[in-house]
Formats: sequence, structure tokens, C-alpha cells
Amino acid sequence: MTRLSELAQFLVKQPKGILAADESNATMDNRLLSIGLDGTEFRRKGWRELIFSTPDLNEYVSGIIMYDETVRQKSQLGQSFVGMLTSFGIVPGVKVDTGTEHLVDSDGEFLTHGLDGLSKRLREYKNFDIQFTKWRSVLNIGPNTPSDDCIRLNANRLSKYASIAQREGFVPIVEPEVLMDGDHSLKKCYEVTDKVLNIVFSELSKENVKLNSMILKPNMILSGRLSDKEDSSEEVAVSTLECLIQNVPKDVPGIAFLSGGQEDSQATRNLFQISRKSREFSTPWELTFSFGRAVLSSALHTWNGNTNFVRNAQDIIINRLRSNSNARVNNPAKI
Ligand code: 13P
Repeated sequence: MTRLSELAQFLVKQPKGILAADESNATMDNRLLSIGLDGTEFRRKGWRELIFSTPDLNEYVSGIIMYDETVRQKSQLGQSFVGMLTSFGIVPGVKVDTGTEHLVDSDGEFLTHGLDGLSKRLREYKNFDIQFTKWRSVLNIGPNTPSDDCIRLNANRLSKYASIAQREGFVPIVEPEVLMDGDHSLKKCYEVTDKVLNIVFSELSKENVKLNSMILKPNMILSGRLSDKEDSSEEVAVSTLECLIQNVPKDVPGIAFLSGGQEDSQATRNLFQISRKSREFSTPWELTFSFGRAVLSSALHTWNGNTNFVRNAQDIIINRLRSNSNARVNNPAKI
């Protein structure tokens, strides 16, 4: 077993999850704006410090994905955030894609960027003691999308990224997200995700990515947000597991789901059912969560930039994490 495969296994081990706190500055500023606050470095730092200093965070979180700015920041007491997480036994990671741009000649599709200078940036992150990385591509379902070009180009970049990350000594999280936006059916989401994952794993194999030293971060299989259909957790779990079994090799140590804009408790219930059903399906991988919004959104609203509400916001974060941890270990009494 190599250092990277051990680290990948550590990150997905029961009962913890990997927290996504890696919004780019622009996305974080939009989140702050949504609660009536200006997006400034001071506020972004305050929010991240609130998250990282949540008491008992390490009981439920194995690793945290950060954004470049956060990696370089220090707490009010002058400790680097990376050092702070490491001292709690939480593995620090970073998002290394540099965002998306419109795919030329496409019907509103996106291509993720960030391969230019990636090795150099990774070497700098090594000096910061970062251990793992994430790259997200986005695919939207529409009448003519995602196109084969968009799927293939994004899968190719995801795989090149994963190969470079491993070569530089990082565990890559590979995140091909099929968005929940739109009015598509659960069946359509299954078909698209099935195709996307199939192509992603074929590209990963072409790039010789070591499957035992990476983590897959997929969407759950759900109806689109604008469809009238409310999927049962049972339907979501069965479709999601069928799709994963069809496409994800057994050598991958773990699958960490994104929440994708699902309502907090919906994401937790779906995770619980996925975990429950996984026994019937005899799945070979660890199944866990790597939620962002479904852990942090309500806490952000409660905090609202006010130091008096830091503890309340931290209570919300820890409760959401505890519920998701219980969901992944299939403890029905406590989700
Ligand atoms: P959400 O859980 O909010 O979808 O975020 C996960 C993530 O890492 C998106 O890149």
C-alpha cells in the first residue's frame, strides 16, 4: 500500500466525511451577498475561521477542501489555517481547478480550466502542507446537452489533472458534477451520469491514474430542481447505486457525494438510504459525503457576519455534520 492509497482510504473512512469549504472568492462573495453582506477578504476569512474552529469538527470530518486564498490565511491568533486543521487531525486539501469558461460553439456548456501551470502550483501547495486536491467539472442537462464534446473534453481534463496531482504526491478528488438545474427526470439524470462516469473512467485509465489513490465525488441521481417530481430516497438510492456499480471500478477506495443544492435534510436522507441499500448491493467502496451547502448554508445565514452568532452557527455546522456522519454509518435514530 502506498502513502497516497493510505491517505485516500483515511479520507473516506467511517464515520467521517470531507467538508467542502472551497468556494472561489467570487462564489463566496455571492453567498455573502445573499445574506446582505459585502464580499471582502476580511469576511471570507471570518467565515472560514468560524468553520475551522467549530468544536469537535474532527469527530465528523477527515479532511477539508479549501480555496487558494484560505490556504494562505491565518487565524486571529496568528496560526495558519492549514496548521490549525492539521493540529486537529484534519487533512487539509485545496481546489485546484481555476473555474469554468463557456465551451466555444456549445449550447451554454462549460469547460473547466486549470491545467496550465498546475504542477508548479502543486509544488507550492506542497510547501503549505496540503495533502489532497479537487477538480470539478460541470455538466448541465438540457434539450441538447451535455454534448459528447463537452463530456469528453471535461473528462480528459479531469483525468490529466488527476494524473498530475498523483505524480506530485496528492490524492485527487475527481468531481464530474451533473447539475440538478432544470426540469429533467431522474431517468434522464441516470442516463447522463452513466455516460459521464463511463467516459471519465475510460479517460482516467488512458492517463494511468491509480484508482486506489483517488476519490470520486459524484452527484446523486435525482430529478431536476424544476421538475414537479419529488424523488423518494429509496428511488434516489437505488438509481445512484446502480449507476455507480455500472461504472466505478472496485479499486476506487471511496465515493464522496456532493450535495448539489439539495435541501439539507434531503441530502442527509438520501445519503442514509444510499448507505442502507449499499449492503444489498454489496458495494466495494466506502460511501460518504463531501457536502458544501448542505452542511454550511443554514449556518452562514445564522452567523450573518455577527460575532454574537458564531457559536449558534457552529452548533448548526456540527449538527449537520453529525447527522451526515450518522447517515453514512446508517444510524437511523440520529439522522
Ligand atoms: P455542494 O455540496 O454545495 O454541491 O458542494 C460540493 C462541492 O464541492 C462543489 O464543488
